[in-house]
Amino acid sequence: MTLRYGLIGCGMMGQEHIQNVALLEGVEVTALADPNDEMRQAAQTLVGSDVGTYRDFNDMIEQESCDAYIIATPNDMHLEPLLRLLKYGKPILVEKPLCTTLNDCRQALKAAEESGVPVWVAMEYRFMPPLAELIRCVTNGDVGQPIMMSFREHRFPFLNKVKNWNRFSQRTGGTLVEKCCHFWDLMRLVLNSNPLRVFASGSIDVNHLSEQYDGQMPDILDNAYVIVDFENGARGLVDLCMFAEGSYWQETASVTGASARVDAMIPPPESFLPDGEKRVPLVEISHREDREIFRYETPVDPEILHAGDHCGSTFYQHVNFLDLVKGDLAKPLVSLSDGSWAVAIGEAAETSVKTGQSVAIVPP
Ligand SMILES: NC(=O)c1ccc[n+]([C@@H]2O[C@H](COP(=O)([O-])OP(=O)(O)OC[C@H]3O[C@@H](n4cnc5c(N)ncnc54)[C@H](O)[C@@H]3O)[C@@H](O)[C@H]2O)c1
Repeated sequence: MTLRYGLIGCGMMGQEHIQNVALLEGVEVTALADPNDEMRQAAQTLVGSDVGTYRDFNDMIEQESCDAYIIATPNDMHLEPLLRLLKYGKPILVEKPLCTTLNDCRQALKAAEESGVPVWVAMEYRFMPPLAELIRCVTNGDVGQPIMMSFREHRFPFLNKVKNWNRFSQRTGGTLVEKCCHFWDLMRLVLNSNPLRVFASGSIDVNHLSEQYDGQMPDILDNAYVIVDFENGARGLVDLCMFAEGSYWQETASVTGASARVDAMIPPPESFLPDGEKRVPLVEISHREDREIFRYETPVDPEILHAGDHCGSTFYQHVNFLDLVKGDLAKPLVSLSDGSWAVAIGEAAETSVKTGQSVAIVPP
């Protein structure tokens, strides 16, 4: 039996989901919803003419029978379809960040708990081969007790999106929610602790300064440093710069423990590299005592790599989500609580930028 997925939101990420689902056996996207004709038609072209297409997701939900749903709408448009879908009892994969505010996350948490429906938040960086390897190393005890974790993301500016929703904090939650939620999620996972407080400094200095939408200037940060303290004494750091598309690595993650350090180096998507250039993700483990360094590549199969812009993570996330849909996995590997914590940290970090003070993180 082929499982049927319904997709709500057919923009860049929705189309990446379609391309990755197409690489899996036993599942297909059978219904699409998006009010934007261009995006809906582009998605239909990827899936094939048999797919049910709808402008309004409510019509899709009523008229199509699906085994699972994917929500890939703008950040401020996750909650509405999520609350609606919870009534149908089928597993849901909702894009990150779960919502734009902690209050909205709490509403999602409460409704999902009452419904018992499994909801998976798309923190797909957990499944990116170099980061999955970093997680494995730390979990195996290769670095000893992890004490510090840092991410440097130096990359290209935010891309243009449908109706420019990503230019405004009100619609995204702000850069430290929208972009950095992946990092907060990985920190909680790897450091195995919840955050206590955050201090952040950031501003919009280079990008979007000459842009205006309906007379409004974008207000999203394009660079920031953020420090997070965790309950178990570990600490995290994010160094974000979104006017650094010339960087060799787009992201570098480091975890340092008492005995060693592990680094994961992630290149930009191939479409952002000079013509024909290929860069393979790397993992490096450096030991303190004997100063030995192990360096190895974590290549991604080209077919998987080219089905998206996220170093294979969308595919591996879908492999696991499919196990949930089939009933082979008891619960989502990334829970609503995980997704809510990531928003809680990002929201507190945005407040810290505005106030110049460290901000206590309120649990979801
Ligand atoms: N996991 C990741 O690493 C990753 C990467 C990129 C984007 N995202 C997330 O994916 C989501 C979508 O981002 P995107 O880059 O595809 O944006 P996008 O603007 O390219 O696409 C969003 C689509 O949603 C549609 N939409 C808006 N309201 C809708 C509604 N009521 N019903 C159905 N469709 C609606 C828009 O018309 C648009 O086609 C965002 O939450 C974003 O943060 C996640």
